[in-house]
Amino acid sequence: PEAITVAELANRMAERTADLVKSLFKMGTPVTSNQVIDQDTAELLVSEFGHNIRRVSESDVDIVTEVDVDEDETLQPRAPVVTIMGHVDHGKTSLLDALRGTDVVAGEAGGITQHIGAYMVTQKDGSQITFLDTPGHEAFSAMRARGADVTDIVVIVVAGDDGIRPQTIEAINHTKAANKPMIVAINKMDKPGSNAQKVREALLQYDVQVEAMGGEVQDVEVSATSKLNLDELIEKIQLQAEILELTANPDRPAEGVVVEAQLDKGRGPVATVLVRRGTLKTGDIFVVGPESGKVRALVDDKGKQIKSAGPSVPVEILGISGVPSAADQLTVVENEARAREVAAYRASVIQQKRTTSAPASLESMFSALR
Ligand code: GTP
Ligand code: MG
Repeated sequence: PEAITVAELANRMAERTADLVKSLFKMGTPVTSNQVIDQDTAELLVSEFGHNIRRVSESDVDIVTEVDVDEDETLQPRAPVVTIMGHVDHGKTSLLDALRGTDVVAGEAGGITQHIGAYMVTQKDGSQITFLDTPGHEAFSAMRARGADVTDIVVIVVAGDDGIRPQTIEAINHTKAANKPMIVAINKMDKPGSNAQKVREALLQYDVQVEAMGGEVQDVEVSATSKLNLDELIEKIQLQAEILELTANPDRPAEGVVVEAQLDKGRGPVATVLVRRGTLKTGDIFVVGPESGKVRALVDDKGKQIKSAGPSVPVEILGISGVPSAADQLTVVENEARAREVAAYRASVIQQKRTTSAPASLESMFSALR
């Protein structure tokens, strides 16, 4: 297979060589910019940087990166995607449920029963925030390693009565490695034993300096149980989101990432996908991981059928050939022949990686680095 230098690949992707070198280093492949990397590595880099991979022809397995950047004038504001992480039992799910209870639209629809991996909360002012229900840390790393890094902001939940624990530290490290802004939510403040100041001080040890300690990380004392300061938490998320100036082009064929997927007895393979750019519509032909399909129905996080889903919108998709994996990329393509071709190619790449790569996966490389 063709090999390529880091500098040449960076050039083709219109990315900075230094950023590629940095990424490679994190993957455990220290190289200089003029060094040659193999195709598998190049391919991983390409997808990590969010570019597409295109085969030159059926027989030629060389890859060419498609520089597919949306023009500035096509960009429109989009909702922030927030992932909640933290130690076991510190109240991540409870907090998410409480935040979901602040959804003015869901409130009108009459309560929330369904549990799904991603949902959108509409605020009183009409703005929206998309929350990802804790993917485990492994899933978070896997998404990042595979260029399916959908998170804009991480909320780290720390129970005020338990403090910094091993998974809190892991969450902090993952957030820093992914270079994402974090907000610390000190939870369970309704409990008499909770001590927020102690948490703020302990965070210093892990290089997390909250505002009260002279740093820049926002923190907020909350209680999922007594619904303390939920509005403040939302405000801080919105403030952080404003700084990020999040945009996407909604007027193009959709691209998204699978948050979770399963085989539903009645409905067949179902995937919850977060749209990253473009607008996904019923009838669209797509490839998702090694699977392909045609969107038969789109179901939103409130269980309602919708006709289309734009950037940052999480949506359930029906009409897939099989069950994809979390972090698989969904790409809308022009026709079914193209969908089958791309799906078959992706399946062969997955097969090849399983049989040839020494470390089982990038995920395990990341774990090894920890
Ligand atoms: P895992 O998903 O297992 O990692 O846990 P989690 O972080 O999602 O925690 P979860 O929301 O399941 O809450 C764990 C326990 O803490 C439950 O018994 C909750 O009722 C309780 N809890 C969560 N938030 C609060 C809070 O603000 N105050 C009090 N008093 N209890 C809380
Ligand atoms: Mg939970």
